[in-house]
Amino acid sequence: MNDVSNTILKNISTTTNALTSPPAYFANENEVSLFEQAYHNHLPVLIKGPTGCGKTRFVEHMAARLGLTTYTVSCHDDLSAADLIGRHLINHAGTYWVDGPLTQAVRHGGICYLDEIVEARKDTTVILHALSDNRRILPIDRTGEILAAHPQFMLVISYNPGYQHLLKGLKPSTRQRFVALTFNFPSPAREAEIVQTESGISADMAKQLVTLAQALRNTANHDLEEIPGTRLLVNAARLIQSGCEPRRACQAAITECLSDEPELVDALANIVTAVFAD
Ligand SMILES: Nc1ncnc2c1ncn2[C@@H]1O[C@H](COP(=O)(O)OP(=O)(O)O)[C@@H](O)[C@H]1O
Ligand SMILES: [Mg+2]
Repeated sequence: MNDVSNTILKNISTTTNALTSPPAYFANENEVSLFEQAYHNHLPVLIKGPTGCGKTRFVEHMAARLGLTTYTVSCHDDLSAADLIGRHLINHAGTYWVDGPLTQAVRHGGICYLDEIVEARKDTTVILHALSDNRRILPIDRTGEILAAHPQFMLVISYNPGYQHLLKGLKPSTRQRFVALTFNFPSPAREAEIVQTESGISADMAKQLVTLAQALRNTANHDLEEIPGTRLLVNAARLIQSGCEPRRACQAAITECLSDEPELVDALANIVTAVFAD
């Protein structure tokens, strides 16, 4: 990772993974081969799905599988085009140019992963247009450079369609440039396998946590801003594996994280008690 420039570039969490063995990823359908086909055809990928359903893990897994570096940017409403492309900085010798994470990926190859893209300002998404059709170029206005993308450059964006603000959807002209993969929560059996693998708890306990998740997803669906993702189950499972009493672990890692409203948290806690009754 280019530490200095990435720190200077305003809080962007840029991570570079040159992993040797891919992190575990349990596939739902044919998303692994689709992603590979998109990569080999120079097509950008858009991943939609609820929080904690494995989007980031999937991208990390695919990057390692394909031997690509990942430049991950967590988008926010203050993210500007310069944060992605780069900017001039000043030191004792004068001004010098520093590539942003997008430019680094375009120049050297690798995946530029823009997480929660709908949070970014509109002018940020516009710069992706020439990169995400068959031109595959990045015009850098500030330096006058028109950068042709490295053959191993791939653009990946993700967002949670259930959570976005109405005004914050992706523009159709942006969306229609991407190969879209829609993610959802895995089947109960697969989710239990994920929870077990990620935490090391017993198969029975993993199953119970998945039963709890399903109960919470069904009953609390309408009251909650977001339904619990697999991530929360993995967190609870890790606490349990470290010796925490299951109900307490579910309270700390699941129910308290789903809402700040005491009444709702109490109602969710009752579901936990019912599932872990024996
Ligand atoms: N299909 C999956 N395979 C392996 N682990 C998964 C999977 N889905 C979710 N997880 C677990 O859940 C956690 C959260 O997933 P993450 O990819 O960060 O979610 P998202 O990016 O969709 O919010 C991961 O760190 C991992 O432990
Ligand atoms: Mg994520």
